Order: sequence, then C-alpha cells, then structure tokens
Amino acid sequence: MAGMISVDSQLTFHIRNSHYSYAMQLLDGRFLAHLYWGPPLVRIDPETIFTPRRAPYLTAIPLGSDVGEGSAEGFGRPCVGAPRTGAASPATEALRQEDAIAAPEAERRGAFSLDLLPQEYPAWGTGEQREGAFRVLFADGTEAARLEYLEHETVEGPREPELMGLIRGDHDLGTVETLRIRLGDPRGELTVDLFYLVAEESAVLLRWARFSNSGGEPLTIRDPASSSVDLPPGAYDLVRLGGAWGRERHLLRTPLAFGRHAVGSRGGATGHQSTPFLAVCEPGAGETKGTVYAVSLGYSGNFQAVCDVDQYDVPRLSIGINRLRGHLEPGESLETPVALLVQSEAGFGAVSNTFHEFARSGVIASRWREEPRKVIINSWEAMYFQVNEKNVTALAKEGRAIGAELLVLDDGWFSGRRDDTTSLGDWWPNEARFPRGLRPVAEAVRREGLEFGIWMEPEMVSPASELYKAHPDWALQIAGRENTLARSQLILDLSNREVREHLFSTVSGLLEESGATYVKWDMNRNMSEVGSLAHPAHRQGEVMHRYMLGLYELLGRLTEAFPEVLFEGCAGGGGRFDFGMMRFSPRFWTSDQSDAVERLEIQYGTTMLFPPETIGSHVSSVPNHQVGRTTPAETRVLTALPFSYGFELDPRKEPESDREIFRSGALRYRELRDRFFGARFSRLLGPLAGSAECRRIEGGGGGETAWMLVAERELFVFYYRPLVRANYEPRRLRLPGLRDGAVYRDRETGLRYDGALLRSRGLMVEPSLGDYQARFWHLELQEGEVT
Ligand code: GLA
Repeated sequence: MAGMISVDSQLTFHIRNSHYSYAMQLLDGRFLAHLYWGPPLVRIDPETIFTPRRAPYLTAIPLGSDVGEGSAEGFGRPCVGAPRTGAASPATEALRQEDAIAAPEAERRGAFSLDLLPQEYPAWGTGEQREGAFRVLFADGTEAARLEYLEHETVEGPREPELMGLIRGDHDLGTVETLRIRLGDPRGELTVDLFYLVAEESAVLLRWARFSNSGGEPLTIRDPASSSVDLPPGAYDLVRLGGAWGRERHLLRTPLAFGRHAVGSRGGATGHQSTPFLAVCEPGAGETKGTVYAVSLGYSGNFQAVCDVDQYDVPRLSIGINRLRGHLEPGESLETPVALLVQSEAGFGAVSNTFHEFARSGVIASRWREEPRKVIINSWEAMYFQVNEKNVTALAKEGRAIGAELLVLDDGWFSGRRDDTTSLGDWWPNEARFPRGLRPVAEAVRREGLEFGIWMEPEMVSPASELYKAHPDWALQIAGRENTLARSQLILDLSNREVREHLFSTVSGLLEESGATYVKWDMNRNMSEVGSLAHPAHRQGEVMHRYMLGLYELLGRLTEAFPEVLFEGCAGGGGRFDFGMMRFSPRFWTSDQSDAVERLEIQYGTTMLFPPETIGSHVSSVPNHQVGRTTPAETRVLTALPFSYGFELDPRKEPESDREIFRSGALRYRELRDRFFGARFSRLLGPLAGSAECRRIEGGGGGETAWMLVAERELFVFYYRPLVRANYEPRRLRLPGLRDGAVYRDRETGLRYDGALLRSRGLMVEPSLGDYQARFWHLELQEGEVT
C-alpha cells in the first residue's frame, strides 16, 4: 500500500493505512493543529472534524493574514522561510467568522488562543496553561517558544531515526513511509522536525522529534516528548502499569479527572515502579470492546508519560524522555526516542495484539523472530551464590532429566563473589569454584546435552573490585559528592567510550572462552549521583541519555558480533522491560518474583505490551522464596507454560512426583511452543476483565485469572483460581473471536464444542475444591473457520 501519506493544498496532512488514520491541519498558515487519530477515514474534511473556538480571558494571537506581513505588531512575519498558503484554511476562516459575530470590538481584527488549539506539538510561552511537549532555554535566558510551520517532506521506504532505530532494517512490516514536518520558532534559533512513520502491516504509528539549533548561540532543550496528542473531549478512564520489585506491571485503572496525571522514571532505567505505557479509554472499554488510545516508548532510560486534562475535558496524552537537559551548540541536533501509538475501537485485547505483532515483526531481531525459546534451568534460586563446577554440572544433568535445554550459570561464578557486596567488574572465573576456568564447566554442561548460558552485570562495578581500584573514574560520579550505594555497587559510565570498549572486549572474551549461547544481562541498581568525568559541565544534563545511547551501541555491537547468542534482558527482575531493550533482548526475566500466584498479576499486566514468548517464566521451588507460599507443581507449570518456560530450582531437592510434573510440563512446552510463538493472546479474566460489581454477580474473585492463545487451528485456554470460594455457579470463560459454524474438539476429553457457544456462553470450568487451582484446555478446530 503505497501513498499512505497525503498532503493537500491547504496543508492538511493525512496518514492512513488499513488500520488507522492520523490527521493534522495547518491553521493560519502557521500553526500545526491535531485533527484526528482513529479508524481509517476515506478523506479528511477538517470542518467536519474540528471547529476552532474561542473562550473569554484566554491569551489571543492575531490571525496572521488579518494583520499582514511586517505589520507594526510584528505578527505574521514569515518564520525562517515559511511558505504561506494562499487561501485561509476552513478552520482559519471559521475563526474569522466567529470573530465577526462574537468577539468584542477590540478583538474583532481576528485572534485565537493556542490554549484552545489541539496543538500537534505544543510549545510553551504563548499563554498555554497545559503541559508543553518540551522546554527550551535560549541564550538570552528566556523560555517562551512558539512553533510555526516551515516545510515538510514524505520519504518512502524505511527511514530509521538516526540515534535510536526502533524498527530494524529487516522488519516484516510491509511498505513503510515517513512524514517529516519542520516547525520553527519565529526568532530563527530553533527548528523542530516531527517524524511520523506509518507501516502498511501495522496498526502502530511511530512518532519522534528532532531539535536543531538553527541560531548562533547555544540553547538547552528539556524533556522533549516523542509524541503529544490532544484527544477528543469526553469522559475517560486512565490505565497504567505500576509496580515495585517483585510486583512489576500491575494494571491500574482509574477514572480520568481534570489535571495532570503522570507516570515515569528518573533513575536511569524504565524501572520496576512504572512502565513506559499510558492508555486512555472509554469508561465502558474492556478487553474486547471500546475505544482505547495507548502509547509506549522505545526507550530504556528515564521516561515520562503524561495525561493532562484541561478545563474543557480535553486529555493531552504525551510520552517521552525524562530528566534530560540537552545542550545544543549552533548546528547541533537532538533526536528523541520513538513513541509507539496504538488506537483501537475493539478494546485492550486488540491494543495488546497490535503491540505484540509490532514487537514480533519490527523490533525483535529476525534471528529470534521465529526461533522457539529454549527451556532454561537457571542456577539462581537453585543455589544462589554457591555455584561451582561440580554442582553446576550436576544441575545440568538433573535439569536435562526434567526437560531443560539450556543452563544459565547465574551470579557467584566470578572472582571473589560470595555475596552481593563485591567483585562486579572482575569478570574472570573464581579460582576456588572453577579452578579450570569456564570452558570445562561449559563443556560439561554441553556434554549433558544442554546449551551453556551465563549471567553478567556488565554495567556495574563494586567498589570492592580490581576494576574499581584501577579505574575509579569509570564510575558515574560527581566530584566532591559521596556516591550512594545500592546493592553495594556503583554504575559504570557507559557514556564514556573507553568504558564501552573495555566492556565489549570483556564480554566478547567470555563468550569466546565459554562458547556461551545465552547471556542473562542484568542491571541491579538505579542511578543516584549522576555525573560523568568524561564530559564537561554543560553536558552533564545529558549523561543519563548518553549512558543509554552508549548501552545501545554496546549491545548493538555485541549482538552483531555474536548473532547466535541470545541476550536476556534483566534488571533486578523486570526493571527494564521495554521496547528499547527488546531490540537486543528477545526474552526478559520478567520478575524476581517466582511465586505462581504473584506471577499471574505480573504476567497479566506484562502482556498488555509484550508478546508471551518474550516473558520469561520459571517454575520454582516451594515454599516460594519470595512469599513463602506453597502451590501445587501443576499450577506452577501451567502458570509458566504459555510464556518462555524454564526452571528456577534444583531438581535434586524436589519430590520425585513433582519432578515428573515439571518434566511433562517441559515436554508439553517443547511440543507446543512453536504454536504459542506468534499466537494471538487474549486476557479472559483478571483485573481488567471484571469490575468489582461484575465479579460479585458472576461469583469470581479470589484472584481468578484466565488467558487464551489462538494459533492457526488450535486454542489454548488457561484458567487459574488462587482461592476457592464456596457455593458459586461454575465459571464460564467466554472465548472472544470464535466464528459461528466452527467446531472445536478437546484433545484430552474428546468433547466437541461449538465455537459460537464458546464465544457467547463460554467454556465451563468444573468447580473443584482446594486453593491454587489451574486448568488447561487444548482445543482443535474440527469444522469451520478459525477466528
Ligand atoms: C538479580 C536478578 C536475579 C539474579 C540476581 C543475581 O536480582 O534479577 O534473577 O540473577 O540478580 O544476583
């Protein structure tokens, strides 16, 4: 589908594919106004979408064509080469007519307020009360800016953002087109390019911005948003992912009221507490119905996502980088990360599947796009820091017996590391534990039939380490200020090229030495006193961002040099799970929380954005190490099964009967994973699926959760009931999207189900007694068509 971007003579911009339309128009030949984001429109007639209006007491900008170029007031002056459109746009005309009727005499010459305008990329300083998309500090110490149209161009084919190409050159998104619209401040010192990337095969619209210093003095840009959109006025709910260590990505939904609502991070990583995601939906929207507007960000550092609801109930939804103070010398530019925008009229399920498909076909490296994830056995919860050649080899042997295919040697293998207080940075094998080095243990693991993987935390350094002794200047720090420790460690300054070179050769050396095909790339603390000895004072406000660019560069080099190595993303569990890291990490350690019940809520929320095969889920021992809960082996297996399956236990310490359940779980996963992989995921029951009221009526509660994967001709339904409740009707799980005329057969019981019945009445869950229940159905299409 070529020609996805069209621009008419009035400078009405229409971006359209078969999934959505996104439109903007130019008002008064200067101001870029947002018009529409929603289901695809055949044509854009601005006057049928948006009526500019005026309210008393707001700041007013005279209409340029009324005042004329070079007028005494100075308005209407063309901004650095801005072409003027001949005829006024219908919206400008409407403003004028409205003036003639309603405005007091003094204003009748024509004026309108930017505070009322759904600005496409709002600046601050012309009277707006709402959040602007960025802040600028000019050399004269002032901050007021105004952005006016200068030019635009449409580029066919992929045009990757220069600094952070979110989508890969070898993407499967079909034809791709990019629109660039250049805006400029009338004083000529600042230009802002807005980018819009539309892909034929995706309902995701990508947006980002580039700031350039087009003047003769330095200027500073603060916290530029990658995207800002004014939504239609109305009543909405706000949905976000909040959390903590061990409780990542819990879905939260609240009514959206007047004011500014923000989530974000400031510690140099996406963080456990929040995820780059914010959605605004109709109050009645659910998993399968209702209008939803959602944004995410392809970035792993500080972010902020804001929904600012103004006095007229217009929500302004924006997302971008946080705590960046970018210094631009004349001629220099700064590009923001890439925002992902998804809109749907079919609820959150459609939004999630759009994100999943985009991740699969645009973000994840093609090498891993169709490669089933291996069953992992990880040494962490099995033996924590007590790893050595003998017990790791034994773990491999026992792991293989329960179906594992890859062993990850976690923390504790290097230099003097016995606990978390020392040795980060000294990435050589501990002589007492691995006297012959890593190669023999890696080979022993391989002889047992498993691949070998290794844990590292390359971005960190312990003050008690050889590396720190040799290069104290390599840690992030501020001269004269004490460094705050977290987990007894400091962070290396990845904005420093020398540090990156060192890490590249250290990690490469280890991979070559051990032949590892898997790296668990961990990052266990956030930044505190942020400063870099490698940069001058005026660059210190960029250090966190330069760190992130340095990390991406390092991971880019490593993944290119070792294409067969899977780099798992980890940050104290799921503290850096985002689309930015996904370019390098096709799998994440979702959470240090391995309890099956806690995992339900974490995984439920994580699927809002990320496809199941990227969500690492390991069966662990009981009583669970994080919460002390004892759940049945079968429940632990079924909680992990549809995700990226593995083990976080020492099979030698497990009862024989449980080992058999773990093994059959692994074999089942190995049999089904190519179908899980790429499946359409539906959340059936959980925090969003049932309001408190609906739970009371339907008899749910007790943490009930259910999801379904649909792959070609098969359905996989999972149901979990952590707490049993007395005297309720059996639960019926309504399976969305099944066609009339379709007939499914249960592989285990042979029962035949009508697709329309499963959709309208639901799959009946036989009641049974006892807590921590989990059920699984594998249904095959017998007649009719799939969803
Ligand atoms: C982090 C990770 C864990 C484990 C430990 C090792 O907490 O999330 O899985 O690797 O570090 O110290």
